[in-house]
Amino acid sequence: MSHADDNAGTRRDFLYYATAGAGVVATGAAVWPLVNQMNPSADVQALSSIFVDISGVAVGTQLTVNFLGKPVFIRHRTQEEIDAARAVPLSDLIDQTSENPNKPNTDAADQNRSLDEAGEWLVMTGVCTHLGCVPLGNGSGDFGGWFCPCHGSHYDTAGRIRRGPAPQNLHIPVVAFVDETTIQLG
Ligand code: FES
Repeated sequence: MSHADDNAGTRRDFLYYATAGAGVVATGAAVWPLVNQMNPSADVQALSSIFVDISGVAVGTQLTVNFLGKPVFIRHRTQEEIDAARAVPLSDLIDQTSENPNKPNTDAADQNRSLDEAGEWLVMTGVCTHLGCVPLGNGSGDFGGWFCPCHGSHYDTAGRIRRGPAPQNLHIPVVAFVDETTIQLG
């Protein structure tokens, strides 16, 4: 393209939109955050909390939603992804903390990062912990998870940094199940 000398900011924007678009395609349906409009403090809640219907997110796909100005990856993992993540010894990890505010002060074992016990759901802020690009998903990188092309950071199927300059695992936002098919972010 003609803008060969695009600056880093432009590149980040491009990667962000490319990833968000892929998420929508992968799910095959429009999935919008459902803000509870009946709550008296909905205006306040809308700023700090959203509800996401995950019933349409098939196994092996990822939904990307925008939360507080950042992409959040909601991955419905395959059994292979779960098994791969759980087979990794902690000593192999660059960042051995879970980076999960829902389970503070825990190690980076997969069970401390996944949303449910079985490990089917992994919810992470989609911002590379190096300089903030949005990593590519869908089995990208050398560890089958996410890959940040900006400077080559590879994340595994639990979103843990395994190779490259990023210092920390992908962060997990405050998140919880509201019911079987709805999660609350924030
Ligand atoms: S911003 Fe991701 S590797 Fe540098």
